[in-house]
Amino acid sequence: MMQFGLIARKFSSSASVQSAIKNVTVIGGGLMGSGIAQVSAQAGQNVTLVDVSPDVLAKAQKSIGANLGRVAKKVYKDNPQEGEKFVSESLGRIKTLTDPVAAAKTADLVVEAIVENMDVKHKLFKQLDEAAPQHTILASNTSSLSINEIGSVVKRKDRFGGLHFFNPVPVMRLLEVVKGAETSEATYNAMMAWGKAVGKTCITCKDTPGFVVNRLLVPYICEAIRLYERGDASARDIDIAMKLGAGYPMGPLELADYVGLDTNKFILDGWHKKYPDQVLFKPIPLLNKLVSEGKLGVKSGEGFYKYEKK
Ligand code: 3HC
Repeated sequence: MMQFGLIARKFSSSASVQSAIKNVTVIGGGLMGSGIAQVSAQAGQNVTLVDVSPDVLAKAQKSIGANLGRVAKKVYKDNPQEGEKFVSESLGRIKTLTDPVAAAKTADLVVEAIVENMDVKHKLFKQLDEAAPQHTILASNTSSLSINEIGSVVKRKDRFGGLHFFNPVPVMRLLEVVKGAETSEATYNAMMAWGKAVGKTCITCKDTPGFVVNRLLVPYICEAIRLYERGDASARDIDIAMKLGAGYPMGPLELADYVGLDTNKFILDGWHKKYPDQVLFKPIPLLNKLVSEGKLGVKSGEGFYKYEKK
């Protein structure tokens, strides 16, 4: 309940924050991409949501509509007509395309939220760099890859950076604005202003593994998995401990299931490869086993806990 109170306050104040960016293209229609499209549209931006799959786009539009409805219920609880207008106008600002090149041509800002694969990102950003107007800023929502490495393929290195959102995007208030080695001050300022305009509290971070949140959160989740793997406490008790003893909204194992065990493993493996001596990044046999069995958390119906299949 508290989270949406915060949304309501943030949403109403964000409309007054000015950003020169008015047209945003979001690439990737998954959970993160659709969340980014939603918060942008509800803040008045013209959004183009891109995915190679029309089915994914249809699903994204449906979930954005439902989530806008949740926001409207809170923000316009005394004025349902205004709420309906808010939902239809916000949805009306989102168009969908399957071609990223066409979508880049009208963008002031492109936010990429596709699969965490460097080669796939390189291929995409090369195309975007060639197609986008000169002033367009290109940004990645990567959770663990290097912004400098992703941006190494673009010519406009001064207009490249990281914009890292959190799941669920409409609820989580933070945006990490990541400065690459060659990100210009003008680009950084524009990204900060845009983040504020879409209702987020922005923090600044250098291009360091996991930025701030995941650099702290992923080792914390991994330590919880190791604790459970050693048999020191049950999954339920580990989660209760951190919720009631530290005031976290979810316990670490619930959060691991929520983020996806494959995502946790992907991040950990990538960091272990880069920093083999860092004990916090060592592989975890139990995590590897669960992923190999297809137990990926909420999305697959089972991880540390069992869930109803969506
Ligand atoms: N989209 C939109 N709204 C959502 C939502 C979603 N996906 N999930 C929940 N909400 C809304 C609910 O509708 C509810 O609003 P209501 O009061 O109007 O019903 C409100 O948020 C609170 O949700 P619930 O009452 O269902 O449940 P909780 O109070 O337990 O909140 C939670 C759910 C917001 C997910 C909360 O448990 C939480 O904050 N968990 C921690 C999440 C977190 O740590 N995220 C970061 C993950 S790391 C990451 O994203 C980085 C990436 O790089 C891996």
